[in-house]
Amino acid sequence: TEWTSDQLSQVDQTVRRWLVELGREARGTKDQDLQVGQKEGDFRNIVTNLDTTNQAWLVDHIRSIDLDAHIVAEEGDLQRPETMAGHVWFIDPIDGTLNFVHEKTDFAIMVALYVDGKPTLGWIAKVMTNQVFHGGPEIGAFMNDQKLAPVADLGLTESILIVSGRRLIAGEKPYATLASAALAYRVLGSAGISFSRLFLQQATGYFSKLSPWDLAAGRVLAETLGYVVKSLDGSPINMLSSNTVLIATTKTYRESVKIVKD
Ligand code: IPD
Ligand code: CA
Ligand code: CA
Ligand code: CA
Repeated sequence: TEWTSDQLSQVDQTVRRWLVELGREARGTKDQDLQVGQKEGDFRNIVTNLDTTNQAWLVDHIRSIDLDAHIVAEEGDLQRPETMAGHVWFIDPIDGTLNFVHEKTDFAIMVALYVDGKPTLGWIAKVMTNQVFHGGPEIGAFMNDQKLAPVADLGLTESILIVSGRRLIAGEKPYATLASAALAYRVLGSAGISFSRLFLQQATGYFSKLSPWDLAAGRVLAETLGYVVKSLDGSPINMLSSNTVLIATTKTYRESVKIVKD
């Protein structure tokens, strides 16, 4: 079933309210209520009870409004769809879990809806500032009730490039090449917060390898605002696997492709 723009606006507002509610609970969570576990025996790869409960809550709520929902989510053993046909939802129940536990500022909750592979709606809740970035190509992109401005086409040397810190220090190509070409680079520890910086035009690009739930919502909103979301070799994005992508203004994207080739 196709959703009309009116229905998409309703879904946009509904999920926005959910994220405000989950955000309020996350802000109210006390240290003593937090259980922190490790994944894959890696002490840097952590998960909390709030990641798990947020995800279960969102899965239930999405299923209650969308009987056709297929869901791709980070935590647990939810059955993943094999194709992007129909309604595919993405959930990152807490993005930047390590920040959530250790600095309690730069983390987000992210949800996205793709219809037959088309980026349709995205939500990034920047919890601590109570800002929800939301919308999509049909309805426009917003921060809370405020419509976001289309991007100014700045180049690499005119603003900040956000990169994955772990990949940069691991010496993975071409992170250092791009970071050193930019005016300055930043490492934020949350894909959602990195996207929010782009949307407020506090950065000109974000380069990282991202899992589907890290990329899904940000991609919808970035494309709506006129950012390029692509791999550096131009190969297509597959939303059912991870992708190394540059999300950037047209100018920054073109300059980056050139620098990496040279
Ligand atoms: C992580 C953050 C981080 C990115 C990692 C992600 P998580 O998400 O977005 O910025 O570099 O690749 O896994 O695991 O805290 O949801
Ligand atoms: Ca994680
Ligand atoms: Ca994430
Ligand atoms: Ca997460």
